[in-house]
Amino acid sequence: MTATHRNLLWLPLARFERDAVRSALQRSGLRSDDVDVDAPGRWFWRFEEDDVPVGFGGIEVAGDAGLLRLVTLPLVRHRGLGGAMAEALEGEAVALGCKDLYVAPSGEDAFFGDLGYAPCPPDALPPAVAARFPGAAAAVMTKRVG
Ligand SMILES: CC(C)(COP(=O)(O)OP(=O)(O)OC[C@H]1O[C@@H](n2cnc3c(N)ncnc32)[C@H](O)[C@@H]1OP(=O)(O)O)[C@@H](O)C(=O)NCCC(=O)NCCS
Repeated sequence: MTATHRNLLWLPLARFERDAVRSALQRSGLRSDDVDVDAPGRWFWRFEEDDVPVGFGGIEVAGDAGLLRLVTLPLVRHRGLGGAMAEALEGEAVALGCKDLYVAPSGEDAFFGDLGYAPCPPDALPPAVAARFPGAAAAVMTKRVG
């Protein structure tokens, strides 16, 4: 749905549809144990381009903060899909009432920096966000979206 990925679609996934999200997060070393926990404010999407799955995204809403997770499937990385999916997820986050998004970049600091995310000092993290990044608070990046 962006200039370079006009046919990108994202489909919200019910809890019973999230096996592939869990696997993709696991394979990328991202947190996956909470994917099908029945908690309010936890959203996951499958991204498709021309009917082919290309990645997954997640947002966990904590007040007016959102925690972002994003995976592009390995075979289609470095084609701009990650940026396009992040843009879509930022729109979803705003629609869900988020003002700021937070991400543990897992070494992808340059990617998120290019998208406008900046390092967030651990003492500036909202407590609910800090609690969701045990051991990674020092690396968290944030962006104002709302
Ligand atoms: C981080 C991640 C989502 C990026 O996905 P992606 O689809 O490769 O993202 P993009 O293609 O938009 O951008 C990736 C890089 O490719 C570059 N790029 C974009 N389009 C390109 C193209 N057509 N040709 C070559 N390079 C391109 C971008 O400039 C970017 O460079 P940078 O990392 O130096 O900033 C992906 O690597 C991933 O899933 N990693 C594992 C999970 C993870 O760590 N997620 C982040 C924490 S939640």
